Amino acid sequence: MRLTNKTAIVTGGAAGIGAATAELFAKEGATVFIWDTDMAGASLAEACRKQQLDVHFMQVSVADKAAVEAATAKVKELKGRIDILINNAGITRDKTLLKMQEEDWDKVLAVNLTGVFNCTQAVAHHMKEQQYGRIVSASSNVGLRGNYGQTNYVASKSAIIGMTKVWALELGRFGITANCIAPGFIETKMTDSIPEEVKQKMVPLIPAGHWGKPIDIAYGYLYLASDEAAYVNGICLTIDGGSAR
Ligand SMILES: NC(=O)c1ccc[n+]([C@@H]2O[C@H](COP(=O)([O-])OP(=O)(O)OC[C@H]3O[C@@H](n4cnc5c(N)ncnc54)[C@H](O)[C@@H]3O)[C@@H](O)[C@H]2O)c1
Repeated sequence: MRLTNKTAIVTGGAAGIGAATAELFAKEGATVFIWDTDMAGASLAEACRKQQLDVHFMQVSVADKAAVEAATAKVKELKGRIDILINNAGITRDKTLLKMQEEDWDKVLAVNLTGVFNCTQAVAHHMKEQQYGRIVSASSNVGLRGNYGQTNYVASKSAIIGMTKVWALELGRFGITANCIAPGFIETKMTDSIPEEVKQKMVPLIPAGHWGKPIDIAYGYLYLASDEAAYVNGICLTIDGGSAR
């Protein structure tokens, strides 16, 4: 067990990559708090507890600073410490530049960028006090290479790589590491709306020969959240089956 006695927050843990991560971390011995807007997280946490996994749900929007601060205080009150933050919540509102509305821009940036800032700032104070912390955020391989129709999403995912490097510099001396992951094509609710024939056309671009699963990313989060990754700081780990860029 690699996360025994650790307290972890997984944002966007009600579905997809976050749900796989919450379950994996709990199997590795952590107490996990799922922060999500979707109440599906409550049933997931309940199902996990039936399997003796210590998973809890809090209905929190990462875009709401006051709610994030209140949830942080609650986790601290319940467990006394916060060891791991997985900034995983994310949304898309895809449109080409010429069609993108201000609302599409604002919504994606509020969740994917301000949300990551809100959660990291709230927990970093406690991690500094403890002189220990692991912050891992979801970027994307499109944050490295761009993608058609995703000005807002790519802006947020590139910014996460930059913020991660800043936090590595600022927080490293407090025993805190900050890293991010750049997933490739992963089968989740987020990518469900892509038509099947388009998904199939993407397969030849992936040397692994198939789309990734949520657990492929969860294992990356696990490594970067573990004590074994103590000397890894400020990186963006691409997990994409070797997709052509
Ligand atoms: N699926 C992919 O191919 C892929 C590729 C690269 C990066 N990513 C990133 O990985 C992360 C997880 O993606 P996924 O595919 O599992 O997505 P998903 O849509 O399956 O799950 C995202 C979760 O985030 C939650 N969420 C949305 N807004 C929220 C908010 N304001 N506050 C709290 N929770 C909120 C949703 O309710 C949902 O449970 C995202 O940051 C995404 O951008 C995904």
